[in-house]
Amino acid sequence: METTPAGLPFSFPFPDGFLWGASTAAHQIEGNNVNSDWWHREHAPDTTLPEPSGDACDSYHRWREDMDLLARLGFTDYRFSIEWARVEPAPGRFSKAEIAHYRRMVEGALERGLRPMVTLHHFTVPHWFAERGGWTAEGAIDLFERYVRATAPIIATGVRHVCTINEPNMIALAVAFRELGTEVAPVAGIPLLDEPTTDALIEAHHRARTALKSISPDLQVGWSVANQVYQALPGAEAATAAYSHPREDVFIEAARDDDWIGVQSYTRTRIGADGPLPAPPDAELTLTGWEFYPEATGHALRHTAALVGDVPLIVTENGIATADDSRRVAYYTGALTAVAAALEDGLDIHGYLAWSALDNYEWGSYRPTFGLIAVDPDTFVRTPKPSAAWLGGLARTGRLPRADL
Ligand code: BGC
Repeated sequence: METTPAGLPFSFPFPDGFLWGASTAAHQIEGNNVNSDWWHREHAPDTTLPEPSGDACDSYHRWREDMDLLARLGFTDYRFSIEWARVEPAPGRFSKAEIAHYRRMVEGALERGLRPMVTLHHFTVPHWFAERGGWTAEGAIDLFERYVRATAPIIATGVRHVCTINEPNMIALAVAFRELGTEVAPVAGIPLLDEPTTDALIEAHHRARTALKSISPDLQVGWSVANQVYQALPGAEAATAAYSHPREDVFIEAARDDDWIGVQSYTRTRIGADGPLPAPPDAELTLTGWEFYPEATGHALRHTAALVGDVPLIVTENGIATADDSRRVAYYTGALTAVAAALEDGLDIHGYLAWSALDNYEWGSYRPTFGLIAVDPDTFVRTPKPSAAWLGGLARTGRLPRADL
């Protein structure tokens, strides 16, 4: 029998009920998130960000169009985030209108046959929360828990999967960068994360989980961790494990009592005797400067499974920034072949959500285009790319087709 490069039979069937979706985050697509810390950062006189988010994709108004497209393309799941800065624009002032807005989004997804996966915190916080000292300030976790409880009317409307905090390790990294007075690592790899922020985020996640279960014990609660796919060169195994633990593994271990864990990877980082190495000189680089390495997801799933116990895995983000959409199809083909191989090996993987539904604001710039759907920055007209039809087709059939491999 002919097999894929991963040794699988062609036309691999994914499990029934598998989540096939695309992901977004409020600040990156909604536009005019004026009460958030990021908006303030974008408009600070000394900002180092190349461009502000502005109107983004105007998804605050056009979310129906986005969901219509995703459903029509064949997707069954849509991950989006609720913006804390909108729901609680001033401390203790919860906006009924914004809560109703996000509730309508949940209802709108369900009406279209899209299962909503809701993220409660995706990198942005209210400006007032940042001003009072962020995650490590006195009472910060109580404030987060109060916000989580305030989202009850939204998530009790038919949401099953809730992601409390997106990529806590990247949040703790951003604090470390701020303390170092830089935004990029001086060498390959990343600095040590801020430890008090790490501890605070883990506690915030656990408190949010309890709060969510009190809203409904049926909610499936998890969080999503950024996986850098650390690969040890021969002899560097112990150094790699030591490097990975505080930067990543500690967050995976904190999910051991969760209902699921989100796995998010884009590329790999090789570690040698002297630490992390840059991408190989002949590597194809994407628009973010990362090595084209679709196998990353397979490695990240296996790494996570080894640490988290029998908690189900969901790929909550995976994708590539490229202007050449055929490379996106190649990337997704490689990634899904790796997911299929991991399933064959018995990993309990419940879904695959691509990053991202739309070309969006990539934290400082619109240049890296991760989207399955292009967005005209002036008219906001959406145009699905061939990769969107390809991935949506796969969602419809639940099979990796022969012709695409
Ligand atoms: C984040 C997204 C981001 C993507 C690509 C993840 O770290 O959750 O917000 O756009 O990676 O950089």
